[in-house]
Amino acid sequence: MRSFLPLVLLLTLPLAGGAAEIPAEKETIYFEHSKLGTVTFKHKMHSELDGVDCRFCHHTNQGTGKPEPCHRCHKGKPQDETPKKIKAFHTRCRGCHQYTVDAGKQAGPVKKCTLCHVKAGKTSGKPQQ
Ligand code: HEC
Ligand code: HEC
Ligand code: HEC
Ligand code: HEC
Repeated sequence: MRSFLPLVLLLTLPLAGGAAEIPAEKETIYFEHSKLGTVTFKHKMHSELDGVDCRFCHHTNQGTGKPEPCHRCHKGKPQDETPKKIKAFHTRCRGCHQYTVDAGKQAGPVKKCTLCHVKAGKTSGKPQQ
């Protein structure tokens, strides 16, 4: 079991309704939009971190129904109060990694861009087609 106790404090609401599941084809997600290179996101691994529930990332999901993709709302430019996608992703992804490092635990990349954005030809973890 991966140790991730500090977040328990942030997540006080129990998951309402039937627990949603991550579809098999979404267990690993590849973000290929960035010119900097593909970001490989181990979705299932992240959802199994101690103290993390789906709504930590899927913040608009009320616990019922399938979570929606972040890109549906977070676009290239901010819209009304919705932050643009680079802000949404960097805040959520790097924010949690920073928080975890500060708590003295192992986390994913924070500062080094190329640990997330992997250029074609380098190992991105994506299986060859
Ligand atoms: C650490 C953050 C994080 C956690 C925790 C998380 N997800 Fe996700 N999930 C994402 C991201 C990022 C995407 C990709 C969104 C996009 O492509 O815009 C995603 C995509 C999805 C999608 C696909 C949406 C679509 O239609 O493309 C589903 C379904 C989903 N998640 C379900 C879940 C469920 C169920 C849980 C809890 C068991 C969960 N997620 C936990 C970050 C997370
Ligand atoms: C249905 C639309 C919608 C979806 C889907 C959505 N967001 Fe958001 N998001 C918003 C809106 C609106 C705000 C601004 C208001 C707020 O803070 O709730 C926001 C704010 C944020 C913020 C800044 C505030 C905070 O909570 O720290 C982050 C980070 C964020 N979203 C990340 C994500 C990620 C990551 C996903 C996908 C896993 C996602 N969002 C999915 C609409 C959405
Ligand atoms: C709830 C906190 C949290 C959030 C949110 C989060 N991460 Fe992580 N991430 C972690 C932790 C903890 C690890 C280290 C896991 C381990 O190796 O034991 C990690 C590891 C990683 C790694 C290295 C994985 C490997 O072993 O190859 C990458 C890449 C990564 N995260 C990307 C992302 C991206 C992209 C997002 C946003 C879509 C994200 N993370 C959101 C906590 C988080
Ligand atoms: C924890 C992983 C992570 C780290 C570290 C990271 N990023 Fe990102 N970044 C992402 C994710 C996830 C996205 C959303 C990609 C998408 O929407 O396809 C993103 C999006 C972007 C985008 C927007 C791409 C676009 O097409 O709009 C830029 C630019 C970017 N990052 C630059 C950087 C730079 C520069 C650094 C280092 C200072 C960095 N990133 C570090 C995960 C990371």
